[in-house]
Amino acid sequence: MNKKFLVAVVFSLPAFAGAGQCQVDVASSDQMRFDKSVIEVSKSCPTFNLTLNNSGTMPKTVMGHNIVIVKKSDADSVARDAIAAGAGSEYVKAGDTRIIAHTKMLGGGEKDTIAIDPAKLQEGEEYLFFCSFPGHRVMMSGSLLVKK
Ligand code: CO
Repeated sequence: MNKKFLVAVVFSLPAFAGAGQCQVDVASSDQMRFDKSVIEVSKSCPTFNLTLNNSGTMPKTVMGHNIVIVKKSDADSVARDAIAAGAGSEYVKAGDTRIIAHTKMLGGGEKDTIAIDPAKLQEGEEYLFFCSFPGHRVMMSGSLLVKK
């Protein structure tokens, strides 16, 4: 393999293309899982679009999934208030200013896309994304990393 060919291969790898991407697709399942444990958001993106696709089949009343993005330090209190808000509020406290962004609560086969403003995220801060359905956070939680 000559050097030119090797360079071409390296730069065509899909993972490499991810560096400048301004969107991500996350899937959730009836197994109470997200298919990603890390989401990277670049500050250079004017907006960052996140699509949650619930690939399960169960209704949202029993196996609902959403994505709520918060500072790690706010996660416990936001999750507690979300559960207190109840099913009628889709387990998100109305007007919760600690929540940076969140999708709708989705049943199987449903999806939702949200726009995240990278200007609201600080480099060096720790962020999490999680499902606020009661009992799901322990299984459905990941890191949101802020990049330049
Ligand atoms: Co869930």
